[in-house]
Amino acid sequence: MISTGLTDFAVGFILLGILRPGYGLDNGLALTPPMGWMTWERFRCETNCKDYPDECISEKLIRDTADMMVSEGYADAGYEYVIVDDCWLSHKRDSDGRLQADPDRFPNGIKALADYVHAKGLKFGIYEDIGTYTCMGYPGVDGHHEIDAQTFADWGVDYVKMDACYTSHINVSEAFPDFGRALNKTGRPIVFSCSWPTALEKPINFEPIKQHCNLWRNNGDISDDWGMVKAIIRHFAGEQDNYAPLAGPGHWNDPDMLVIGNYQLSLEQSKVQMAIWAILAAPLLMSTDLRNVYPEYKAVLQNERVIAVSQDVLGIQGRRIIEDTKNHLHVWTRPVTPVVGEEYSYAIAFWSYRNDGNPHTFKISLKDAGLTNPTGYSVEDLFGDDKFEVTDPSVELKVRITPYGVVLYKATPVSSKANFTQVK
Ligand SMILES: *[C@@H]1O[C@H](CO)[C@@H](O)[C@H](O)[C@H]1NC(C)=O
Ligand SMILES: *[C@@H]1O[C@H](CO)[C@@H](O)[C@H](O)[C@H]1NC(C)=O
Repeated sequence: MISTGLTDFAVGFILLGILRPGYGLDNGLALTPPMGWMTWERFRCETNCKDYPDECISEKLIRDTADMMVSEGYADAGYEYVIVDDCWLSHKRDSDGRLQADPDRFPNGIKALADYVHAKGLKFGIYEDIGTYTCMGYPGVDGHHEIDAQTFADWGVDYVKMDACYTSHINVSEAFPDFGRALNKTGRPIVFSCSWPTALEKPINFEPIKQHCNLWRNNGDISDDWGMVKAIIRHFAGEQDNYAPLAGPGHWNDPDMLVIGNYQLSLEQSKVQMAIWAILAAPLLMSTDLRNVYPEYKAVLQNERVIAVSQDVLGIQGRRIIEDTKNHLHVWTRPVTPVVGEEYSYAIAFWSYRNDGNPHTFKISLKDAGLTNPTGYSVEDLFGDDKFEVTDPSVELKVRITPYGVVLYKATPVSSKANFTQVK
């Protein structure tokens, strides 16, 4: 059964165009989905630096990562924010009521660490929780919004991830905007990432979240698990009529970190996560040990053509437009630049969830995927070298996909038949 959502797609698209201006957090930041690195998925709350000096949440881990971001090419590829998640805090505020880092694991304090990261040309992010405690039991910001926002600004923090544990006694729909106002008052531009939706009952009204946050977590935490990656992709497909219209420059849905380069995802599965996160205009926040990433996985994380899809200036979130349950194929598309005449270019992800051994050839036309430019497209395979031109969008293509793999195309409209050199 092929069901296409083309009509919904077109409607969502038009609404998005009308609604976008002025609706979102106006701090001038995250005009494309934030890119960077975050401790949580890979390093969790390891605080034992005696036995695990390279893996514990510490200033060494952050400094090593900032070094690797630059020396291994991640910064050049666009990754920018180095973000320490939970477990950086001391259990006690200082005598002035300010937050402070764990003195053993961050002996030089956060300001010096942020300075180190900045000196590398990168930006520094930190984690807190809108409730009484962080999820791992360190002090939360509840009751301390102004002083904590100011402390972050004084330290040179560029990005705050605000979690939502221990919130049963507060109204998170007032607390998140209030902390956002406190950040704004500091005068320092700080990306505000909110786990606000995770503390709300469904159905969720995302409009206030979009007005107060640069990004927000739509689902529970990702883990190093292909089943979880698949579940998040399916969740985003199922909720796309709610989620896709929210996304745009300055305000993004967040399906959580990239787990590429860790223990579980195969190379093909890593390409799937990278491709779909790019289609979703999702933040690209790696959570892996940058000192130990195999070259093939690093190439996926640094694929500049896929990153260009992620970072496309239009900021339109893509959608799953075909769910072919008979052939086990999903097709996702995202409108991107260049816009030629009135025709968008598209990123197109063909994701197969067949697991029967050999690569499988799917026959599909660009028109089936919603691409209708009458004079056709020039098509490039973003993970491979293939380039070809399609003069007629209704011509059937043969797309060969590995088990549980992905093929990601970029299709750019060509304006006249005179441009064609080759037909496939
Ligand atoms: C929480 O705050 C929001 C925004 O002010 C308000 O609309 C809502 O009614 C409040 N919820 C409760 C349970 O008080
Ligand atoms: C604070 O909010 C105002 C109004 O939305 C905005 O113009 C300004 O850029 C914000 N400043 C910071 C530092 O976020």
